[in-house]
Amino acid sequence: MDKFVIRGGNPLLGTVRISGAKNAALPAMAAALLTEEPVILENIPQVRDIETTRRLLSAMGAEVELGYGRAQHRTTISCRRVSSPEASYELVKTMRASTLVLGPLLARCGRARVSLPGGCAIGARPIDLHIKGLELLGAKIKQEHGYVEASCRRLRGAEILFDKITVTGTEDLLMAATLAEGESVLQNCAREPEVADLASLLNKMGAHIEGAGTATVRVKGVGELHGAKHRIIPDRIEAATFLIAGALTDGDLNIAACDPDHLGALLDKLHEVGISTQRTSDSVRVEGSRNLKAADVVTEEYPGFPTDLQAQYMALATQADGTSVITENIFENRFMHALELVRMGANIKIEGRRAVVGGRSPLSGAAVLASDLRASASLLVAALVADGETIIDRVYHIDRGYENIEEKMRAVGAQIRRLGEILPKKR
Ligand code: UD1
Repeated sequence: MDKFVIRGGNPLLGTVRISGAKNAALPAMAAALLTEEPVILENIPQVRDIETTRRLLSAMGAEVELGYGRAQHRTTISCRRVSSPEASYELVKTMRASTLVLGPLLARCGRARVSLPGGCAIGARPIDLHIKGLELLGAKIKQEHGYVEASCRRLRGAEILFDKITVTGTEDLLMAATLAEGESVLQNCAREPEVADLASLLNKMGAHIEGAGTATVRVKGVGELHGAKHRIIPDRIEAATFLIAGALTDGDLNIAACDPDHLGALLDKLHEVGISTQRTSDSVRVEGSRNLKAADVVTEEYPGFPTDLQAQYMALATQADGTSVITENIFENRFMHALELVRMGANIKIEGRRAVVGGRSPLSGAAVLASDLRASASLLVAALVADGETIIDRVYHIDRGYENIEEKMRAVGAQIRRLGEILPKKR
């Protein structure tokens, strides 16, 4: 298992280019299952979850070409034949978002067998809302041997009111409804930019979707979809992670190839803590400060403050002047990074869904363990301002969602290197 070795103390200076959004690319790849024709996706990030999705689709009989290069980062997915509409436990357990294939498989093939994701490191994360919605569209669903087994004739349009806002749930149902007979109205939908990006791809494929990116989405079902070419939006969480790192290290960082409109909640919060930012249509420049003021954060669905930034913000809060209260409203068990930050010298108390973070705690480098994707990013950001060397173990979590993070960090001045574990030779 790879580790990162980071020596703290350097401000981040220069320009970093943001990759395509993993959370937009995953549903876009699943959407290719809805048509016999090739779907071409550009700005695909080179991260492990994309490779997992490639394996998932290939196992179903899809042809997936994936090429990375200076100007490319492109995939062409051809699902002419879907010989085995199944997502195995082996793949789903490494990436929960695999459940995104459920809706498209049912809509196109009339059947699907998808492993239940099970408990995951940041809480229970059920998929009951996906299942309930698909049943309303006419699917018959049973759960057996840890799998969801679903079948239908043609799906029928329906009114679906989500009891709770779910991002991949909205995306799954949106994809299923495109090929249903008649109109579907989805209410209380996730408004994340990734949902709107998926709808934009689906409309290019011939779907009739209105309102994606708002709480109510209308879908007029069509008989079939065709191939299309689409460019994935920039990754707002990667951009925000670099913004926080630039602010915290007292750096001067230009975040290029991002969409500042998707970063509103974080930019507002950075202003509150005393950080100045300047934006253009596709970049944000952040100038750090040694005089950060504490500010509370409550995670919410978009356009609120993202749960996917809560951990990185906590690293920043450890250095602010005053106490910050961070409330996690989306997932019930998403504070594992706090314990590791405490090992580096942070003063954090967890009270249920709230973390009370005392500021101005000098951090010192330590051996720490990454427990999930965003927790790893939090430890990396903290290590940039810690005294001495931090070793982060299990960085495979960070490789799931950040493209070449150590190269990007190094290019703007961070002292970071990757250590691959050398296994003892078998005798
Ligand atoms: C997506 C993102 C993830 C982000 C999360 C919240 C992707 C691939 N992943 O995850 O990075 O952290 O949104 O912004 O886009 N819930 C149910 N029943 C369901 C579905 C969800 O109770 O059927 C609950 C979850 O347990 C959680 C909340 O709803 O408490 C939100 O989860 P959801 O939006 O579904 O998260 P994901 O789509 O899995």
